[in-house]
Amino acid sequence: MTDYPNVTILDHPLIRHKIAILRDVRTGMKEFRELVEEITTLMVYESFKTVPTKKVMVQTPLELTEQTMVADNAVAVVPILRAGLGMVNGVHTLFPTARVGHIGMYRDEETLEPHEYYCKLPDGIENSVAILLDPMLATGGSASAAIGFLKARGCKNIMLMSIIAAPVGIQTVAEAHPDVKIFVSTLDRQLNENGYILPGLGDAGDRLFGTK
Ligand code: PRP
Ligand code: URA
Repeated sequence: MTDYPNVTILDHPLIRHKIAILRDVRTGMKEFRELVEEITTLMVYESFKTVPTKKVMVQTPLELTEQTMVADNAVAVVPILRAGLGMVNGVHTLFPTARVGHIGMYRDEETLEPHEYYCKLPDGIENSVAILLDPMLATGGSASAAIGFLKARGCKNIMLMSIIAAPVGIQTVAEAHPDVKIFVSTLDRQLNENGYILPGLGDAGDRLFGTK
C-alpha cells in the first residue's frame, strides 16, 4: 500500500471500526482515551512479531519443555508528549514490563517545525528495540526529530507506531530513516493548510486530555 518496504499499514477491520468511532467529533474524552489504548494494543500484537526472544525451560504438570519468551529488556517504549502518552497503557496491557522513556515535542503552530522540550530515556535503551509512540504522523517532523534523538543515544533498532498518518508524514520519515520500521493503523488523504490530517480526528492531545 506504500512504496516503502519499512512501512506497514495494518488496515484491520477491527482497527478500522475503532478508528471510525475515534474520529467522530461526538466521541468524548473517556471513550477517546479508551479507544486509543485499545487500538494500540491491537497494533502491539502486530508490531511485536519481530522483537528478540529467548528460550526458557518450563516445568508443566507433565514434563519439562523448552519455550519462547520475549527477551529481558527487549523493548522500551517512548511516547512523544503529549499525545503519545495515551498509547502507553495500550502497550502495557499486552506487555507490562516494557520500560518507558519520554520525549517532549511540540509543533510550532505557524511553521509546523518540531521543538523538543524534554527527553528522559531508560538506561540501556540502546540495547532494546525502542518503540516510539505517537498517534498522529502529520508532516513527520516530530517523529523524524524524535528518531534522531534515539539514534543520537545509540539506538539501532527503532520502530514507530502511529494510529493515523498522512502520506507526506510517511514519506518524510521513511526517506529520512529507511532503517526504522513504521507501523500505521490507517493512511489518511492529506494535510490541511494548518498541518492537520484530513479526515483525521482533530488534535489528538486536546481530545485525550480535554484541553480544548
Ligand atoms: C501532535 C502529535 C504529533 C505531532 C504530529 O503533537 O501528537 O506529535 O503533532 O505532527 P507532525 O508530524 O507534523 O510533527 P502537538 O505538536 O500538537 O503537541 P501535543 O501532543 O502536546 O498536543
Ligand atoms: N497533530 C494532531 O493532533 N492532529 C493532526 O491532525 C496533526 C497533528
